[in-house]
Amino acid sequence: MKKLIFILLTNLALFSSLFADEGMWIPILLEKYNFADMQEKGFKLTAEDIYSVNNASMKDAIVIFGGGCTGEMISDQGLLITNHHCGYGNIQKHSSLENDYLTDGFWAMSQQEELANPGLKVTFLISMADVTGRVLQDVTDEMTEAERNKIIDRNIAEIKKKVEHDTHYEARVEQFYNGNQYFLFINEVFKDVRLVGAPPSAIGKFGGDTDNWMWPRHTGDFSLFRVYCDKDGKPAEYSEDNVPLKPKKFFPISIKGVQKGDFTMVFGYPGTTQQYLPSFAVEQVLNESDPHRVLIRGKKLDIINQAMNSDPLIRIQYSAKAASVANGWKKWIGEMRGLRRLDAVNKKKKYESKFKEWTDNNRTLYKKYGKILEQYESIYSGLSKYNLGMIYINEAGLGSDAVLLALRLRLLENLDGANDEAVELIKKEAKAIADAHFKDYNEATDKQIFAEMTKLYMENISAEFHPEFFVNFEKITKKAENKYEAFACYMFNKSILTNQEKFNEFVDNLSAKSYKKIMKDPVYLLMKDYLNVYRNQLATEYNNYTAQLDSLDRIYMKAQMEFEADRLFYPDANFTLRVTYGNVDNYFPKDGVEYDYFTTLDGIIEKDNPEIYDYDVPDKLKELYYAKDYGQYADADGTMHVGFIGTNHTTGGNSGSPVINANGELIGLNFDRNWEGTMSDIMYDPEMCRNITLDIRYALFIIDKYAGASNLIKEMEIRK
Ligand code: ARG
Ligand code: GLU
Repeated sequence: MKKLIFILLTNLALFSSLFADEGMWIPILLEKYNFADMQEKGFKLTAEDIYSVNNASMKDAIVIFGGGCTGEMISDQGLLITNHHCGYGNIQKHSSLENDYLTDGFWAMSQQEELANPGLKVTFLISMADVTGRVLQDVTDEMTEAERNKIIDRNIAEIKKKVEHDTHYEARVEQFYNGNQYFLFINEVFKDVRLVGAPPSAIGKFGGDTDNWMWPRHTGDFSLFRVYCDKDGKPAEYSEDNVPLKPKKFFPISIKGVQKGDFTMVFGYPGTTQQYLPSFAVEQVLNESDPHRVLIRGKKLDIINQAMNSDPLIRIQYSAKAASVANGWKKWIGEMRGLRRLDAVNKKKKYESKFKEWTDNNRTLYKKYGKILEQYESIYSGLSKYNLGMIYINEAGLGSDAVLLALRLRLLENLDGANDEAVELIKKEAKAIADAHFKDYNEATDKQIFAEMTKLYMENISAEFHPEFFVNFEKITKKAENKYEAFACYMFNKSILTNQEKFNEFVDNLSAKSYKKIMKDPVYLLMKDYLNVYRNQLATEYNNYTAQLDSLDRIYMKAQMEFEADRLFYPDANFTLRVTYGNVDNYFPKDGVEYDYFTTLDGIIEKDNPEIYDYDVPDKLKELYYAKDYGQYADADGTMHVGFIGTNHTTGGNSGSPVINANGELIGLNFDRNWEGTMSDIMYDPEMCRNITLDIRYALFIIDKYAGASNLIKEMEIRK
């Protein structure tokens, strides 16, 4: 501990109030701001090796995978690695009862066996540049927000048009530091991305939602894809004539293993952080948003988990839904605990009182910034009920599958006066939506969810935001003992949207007249009323407040940067490419407990329990374990290392990001954070926040020894 404090102090001395390891940095500014610190932490290469304008560099090996994850190139033939939970949707799409790749895993033993994934894209960054001057051209301080935004939108459109003209590149302009700075990103998007390999869920999702967000962890969270292009190396839609992409750069892989204290760097696409919020916002998250979201999702999960445990079919149907509901639920619980433990609201309040002193003591500053905190307080207090309304509409009102289906089937309203041709088109589309929906639907489970969600909405949201349909509630449920159950029964019996047979009968006989029928359907009507509440009572006010916040956030950010002129500020995550770096490190989650920095296959065997779905270790893996058949992937200590943790500051979107050592070699895949550290999106704590990495040696061991896909290993550049 003493040593840690000493290191902290020296770092603080060097970098003023910047916390060690905190921060998600902009790759083209590393040289200027971070490089000395990175070297001190152990990095052996140059900033040019990370991002270079003229030469191939690490950034050329990194992609946005799909819509919300990171992936990276690991061979000169377009081989890509990302998390299992990032590839999950695509693995699921190829899965059926006969070929259950989710359960059994999938391995292409040759390129011919790889599977196409229509709709899946990967995005490479060609270059980025500061375009603040061009974006803010003609913007003045005297303008209203609306005028300002209009000019900014116009300027951004012009910049994008110029870049995209005559090329196949796509341009994106994003704001940094809450709109004080703007960067242009020029991207190349590839559209033929094929599934190459995935471990069985018993490895790739080992520990499931039970272990999610937790350390110690034993999840083999990886999957493999390959990027294809046309013969000229350009992006192309899927075609048999396409060839594997030859990337400008791919990561060599080190199997030397990691030690405590080793330098690590995570290079990827962190989604959203909110480090510079005022205390009022943190209070709202902590006392309002998080508790209610956790309450709603917790109720939903109780029902889903019970149903999944009662029936294997329901498990298949609801596992992806459960994972996504549980992911947020568990994260917010961790976030609340972490914010409380850090006393985050009071820390912010103290900071704000110093800030206020600063503005109060200087007339110019007072004129510019003296009213910010008061304004925040008033906006957040006004926003509160609309914020809650939004949460309840999204999570509870639209929170059952039946109501969601209604929402997706709004195209049925086009039946009104439609001709035969139009009816046919609507029929086809509605059928496709419903088929996909009912494949993963259980009526009894959804009815329970619907009852519970209605109850939560009615009890926790003020009557002014109740859907009009609720006027029928008393009439429908008059004599019932459990009113919400009775309401759900009534709705589900009367609706055609809650049962596949009823819906198919409806859609098979579809005509322009069916319009009348859908407009009488109680679930459909309820959905429309929720939408009306959203549109007429919530959205306008909510957007009004958030627009005020956008402008205030920009000014407060600027003010904070002036207030702490010596501090190096990093911009909040905004799903653009960032570098975060730190060291491999253990931590002390609570008094008297130390968590080591790595886990091994021994821990998987310890957790083995065929009775519990999340901990049912495959026989083959056990055989390899008992034979200690680890090949070149064993650690020097003789065990098979599975995961490790470090002090890199990461967030959602960093899933699949390469974890890189001091020599620029791939040593693992980022896939999670520890529960004690999930408040890092709002406030980072160097003592407690850790990113969780899959040790690349475990992935290689599974590919090579478990799956026998040595064809893939041969493509990689493995460094011993
Ligand atoms: N917590 C990780 C992330 O935020 C993994 C989520 C997927 N896994 C799960 N068991 N739900 O994305
Ligand atoms: N699992 C997260 C993701 O999908 C990464 C964990 C985090 O939030 O740090 O990006």
